Amino acid sequence: MALVPVSELLFKAEKEGYAVGAFNANNMEIVQAIIEAAKLENSPVIMQASQGAITYAGLEFITGMVKIAAEACKVPVALHLDHGTDFGQVVRCIRSGFSSVMYDGSKLPLEENIAMTRKVLEIARPIGVSVEAELGKIGGTEDDIHVSEKEAMYTDPEEARYFVAQTGIESLAIAIGTAHGQYKGKPELDFERLAKIKSLVGIPIVLHGSSGVPDEAVKKAIALGVCKVNIDTNIREAFVYTMRKVIQEKPDEIDPRKILGPAREAMTNVVRNKMRVFGSSGQA
Ligand code: G3H
Ligand code: 13P
Ligand code: ZN
Repeated sequence: MALVPVSELLFKAEKEGYAVGAFNANNMEIVQAIIEAAKLENSPVIMQASQGAITYAGLEFITGMVKIAAEACKVPVALHLDHGTDFGQVVRCIRSGFSSVMYDGSKLPLEENIAMTRKVLEIARPIGVSVEAELGKIGGTEDDIHVSEKEAMYTDPEEARYFVAQTGIESLAIAIGTAHGQYKGKPELDFERLAKIKSLVGIPIVLHGSSGVPDEAVKKAIALGVCKVNIDTNIREAFVYTMRKVIQEKPDEIDPRKILGPAREAMTNVVRNKMRVFGSSGQA
């Protein structure tokens, strides 16, 4: 199948009450692991590449690998730019064949975020590329900040309503207590805020920093309007921990395939499990 826009996947997910997983890919093994999981689960899937992934693997390689993988399978696959902060990068991804982009203007003042998001929508919408925006600041788990400071970073529901009305954006990433990376403690999600935002904006909500969020909390967030769940850290863990284990167990192994093969399998299992939690299994 050709790549599909994220908006198409989220439209169905929202209607039917599940979420589509968006998994970060940086190289061939990760792309293959994610696609294999989607095939085995008969699930729609969003493959996403960050600006760092593009710098690492090269734009043509990322686009080429995902297109080849998508064309060879029957489940719907989207290719999405994750946290695009640079307008030029957004344009290059669209020209390269991405079916969806995130413009992340969350660090900009509100009106600038609105103006830039509109500019991205202006070039993406006419050619059927979907756009995700971000409002509020999703931190990293390494950020050592107080609860009151954290709440100041959370998405303000009224501001979200204004932002969506001003931009006409298709999906919105919000800050409600999740963070990117490995959590030190148990994350506390502000579900009330999520429900309020959803009732005011009425569009699919995106949950970032979801790896360390317990399954039950993710399910509750999906029931309250989250339709796209971003996962990177859990894939990195499966990849590296498995490689480390094989190298420790077989220190003389010099065939990379014998090390990367089991790591790829471990990543597939992680992704399959997420798809079941998100309710996207069987929804392709
Ligand atoms: O949200 C961030 C993703 O985990 C991507 O991380 O910029 O290190 O590729 P990265
Ligand atoms: P995690 O690495 O915490 O899973 O977050 C991924 C993410 O939000 C990518 O945009
Ligand atoms: Zn993110």
